[in-house]
Amino acid sequence: MKNVKNNDINTVSDDLDKDISWDMENIKEYDLKNENEKEHITKKDQQRIDKEYQKKIVERKKKFLESLKTENEVFDKRTLMNLYNLLVGKHVDELSGIINSGKEAVVFRAEGTDSETGELEEYAVKVYRVSNCDFKTMWKYIQGDPRFHLKRSSTRQIINAWVEKEFRNLLRAGDYINTPFAILKRENVLLMELICDEDGNPCPRLKDCKVDYEKFYAQIRDDIKTLYQDAKLVHGDLSEYNILVQDEEPVYIDFSQGVISQHPLSKTLLIRDIKNVCNFFKRKGVKTDYQEFYKHVTGSELHLLDEELAKNY
Ligand SMILES: Nc1ncnc2c1ncn2[C@@H]1O[C@H](COP(=O)(O)OP(=O)(O)OP(=O)(O)O)[C@@H](O)[C@H]1O
Ligand SMILES: [Mg+2]
Repeated sequence: MKNVKNNDINTVSDDLDKDISWDMENIKEYDLKNENEKEHITKKDQQRIDKEYQKKIVERKKKFLESLKTENEVFDKRTLMNLYNLLVGKHVDELSGIINSGKEAVVFRAEGTDSETGELEEYAVKVYRVSNCDFKTMWKYIQGDPRFHLKRSSTRQIINAWVEKEFRNLLRAGDYINTPFAILKRENVLLMELICDEDGNPCPRLKDCKVDYEKFYAQIRDDIKTLYQDAKLVHGDLSEYNILVQDEEPVYIDFSQGVISQHPLSKTLLIRDIKNVCNFFKRKGVKTDYQEFYKHVTGSELHLLDEELAKNY
């Protein structure tokens, strides 16, 4: 996918103009909260309101494109459209900075107003960089998943399935353990709850903060068991990088690699997850035992052959 440079942003702006009538309907629906208000609108009022909304949309669009310029992020045209469509949807008013910019994904912080309570809401928006994704690896994880029935797929379909997988895994895991609530997805863009402190600052990763390591180890051990036994999921990329700490509790993020327990790779990934967790806590002085951990999670012994297979991942 060809990237659009920031100075090409005007071409995207033209495409966005084409969608403006659709946007207007959406924003109007959203902003006219009072049903009675809608009933008593005269033609003249309608024209005035239309004009106001037109202005509002143009302002939002400008602000949005400007914010991307200052963040110095480069996205393809379609991603910009997906991001922009989030803005005129019911949730997000504006992007308010980058939390993390990695090779495959960038995570923005976003703000919006709850349409019912009028309260300020904070979100995290994860945007996959289509041009940097490792499609071969993604395909391997998607292929064995009975929830997806893709045969031969385009890169666009793979990225769609990948983000859909993260979205579904977050919701499924969230019924049992702490995860950000997944709100919606649009192709390579995922909108979710921001895991933050009471001042709205994003919570740190386990890697970056000090906790009661004994307590955390025990908690994570039980959470992985619950995830496996009840949610029937394996995280697949678990480490101190993908666990946030909120109110001294672990919150699990980054579920795109997660597989369901029937997946052919589930055992291998579970062993790798457990070893990652054990290695981290061992460095923090906790007495860990990955074989005992595995038995705690699955109820059966860890076989040497499975362990050997996991080493290749
Ligand atoms: N819901 C969230 N609330 C707060 N912070 C978040 C949230 N989701 C992600 N983050 C922050 O963004 C970082 C990257 O997110 P994530 O782990 O999901 O992406 P990633 O796939 O690892 O990206 P990359 O591999 O490109 O670094 C996290 O380490 C965390 O600091
Ligand atoms: Mg991560």
